[in-house]
Amino acid sequence: MILTLSGTPNPKQEAFFLAEARHIAYGGARGGGKSWAMRRKFVLLAFRYPGLRLLLLRRTLPELYENHVLPLQKELYGAVDYQSTQRAFLFPNGSRIKLGYCDREADVFQYQGQEYDVVGLEEATHFTESQMQFLTTCNRSVRSDFSPRMYYTCNPGGVGHAWVKRLFIDRNYRNSERAEDYVFIPARVTDNPVLLARNPQYLETLRNLPEHLRKAYLDGNWDVLEGQYFQEFDRSIHVVKPTELPKEWKRFRAMDWGYNDPCCVLWFAVAPEGRLYVYRELYLRKTLSSEIAKRVRTLSAGERIAYTVASPDAWQQRGLKGAEGTCIAEVFAKNGVPLIPADHARIPGWQRVRENLAVREDGAPNLLIFENCGNLIRTLPALTYDAHVPEDVSDACEDHAPEALRYGLMSRPRANEPKPQTPARRYDPLSTAKPALTGFCGI
Ligand SMILES: Nc1ncnc2c1ncn2[C@@H]1O[C@H](COP(=O)(O)OP(=O)(O)OP(=O)(O)O)[C@@H](O)[C@H]1O
Ligand SMILES: [Mg+2]
Repeated sequence: MILTLSGTPNPKQEAFFLAEARHIAYGGARGGGKSWAMRRKFVLLAFRYPGLRLLLLRRTLPELYENHVLPLQKELYGAVDYQSTQRAFLFPNGSRIKLGYCDREADVFQYQGQEYDVVGLEEATHFTESQMQFLTTCNRSVRSDFSPRMYYTCNPGGVGHAWVKRLFIDRNYRNSERAEDYVFIPARVTDNPVLLARNPQYLETLRNLPEHLRKAYLDGNWDVLEGQYFQEFDRSIHVVKPTELPKEWKRFRAMDWGYNDPCCVLWFAVAPEGRLYVYRELYLRKTLSSEIAKRVRTLSAGERIAYTVASPDAWQQRGLKGAEGTCIAEVFAKNGVPLIPADHARIPGWQRVRENLAVREDGAPNLLIFENCGNLIRTLPALTYDAHVPEDVSDACEDHAPEALRYGLMSRPRANEPKPQTPARRYDPLSTAKPALTGFCGI
């Protein structure tokens, strides 16, 4: 069977096809023919080099199917076998294109120990820097006729905006990174005549976007969508040196439970004028719930803690990593740390964080963080916008400390809100009543 691949690359796609650097990125704006170019390059390489091993990734499985599995099945029908169980195209010459996704941060580890001559990251800004770094370790080759290569397509925005911009736009290199290994071929919708001819409305759609999105997606401007969710966070005003806080100030804690992912506990103190201090954090991975509860108690010795809010998953019945009991909340209660379920509404919660970061009339923000809370200070400014829900934080970010912060702030009355009259409720692990999700914040 003779396979005829339709379409001719436009000049930008041609430049992408001819590049031979170790890291080659294409696009930087919407509709420049990125996905087409990535797919076609992979197919051409697979035919050109018998026995070549290629890995093509997108962040999520539905995107992978839509963008690559289905179009490749169509393009290669009858000439190349598709093995659905392995999600791989097996070429008659022994080459193999494996298609994969890395939805969760840890999903990259499935490729540990595997070797690919070529690795492609479609929509590279959807991948975190550590995922990219890990995948680079899988990109190695023992062939003499081909040196290992990584291909990237990208649009501005998303969790990986910063590293893609640094390497391919700003060309700011660190440690062993070498400038000559990185090539970027910019392409915009106007470089893609096929799309312009087939769908002339698309250009108009891009032109009608709000200004910052228009600049990013139509013009390929990487400065407008830096991607940082809390742009108001400023170390010099939100982070303060630890001091002894008055004993009589009200205190509470908030926890984002995790075992494989880190578990984060934050301690809050409320100044008489309502200003909030996050004065301590505990950030532990792979630690039993009973052990964390004991650490929380020890760290809180001598302090009066009004309550501890926790992510609702602490009430899920599931494996407890060796601890006794039926749910994390029960283990905590048995170890002297009763929990109440946090209000985990995401968008109102992030909005509450934003309100607390805002500078008040007296020139200081409502939220101050002691500089010993290193994980909160590191991860809060690193949160980025979700690629699909622009008001939300991308769940690809390391968000355990910000989530604990959000739960803590949602347990407080809003600034200017009257104090609730109902007394604080505590979770009683032995009660059969379902814990209330809201209305417990009466301190
Ligand atoms: N050289 C080409 N020959 C034929 N069709 C092409 C070519 N380049 C792109 N196309 C077609 O143009 C359309 C847009 O291209 P593509 O999906 O690759 O763009 P993109 O940059 O990935 O877009 P997005 O930013 O939305 O992800 C698709 O229908 C694609 O098949
Ligand atoms: Mg695309």
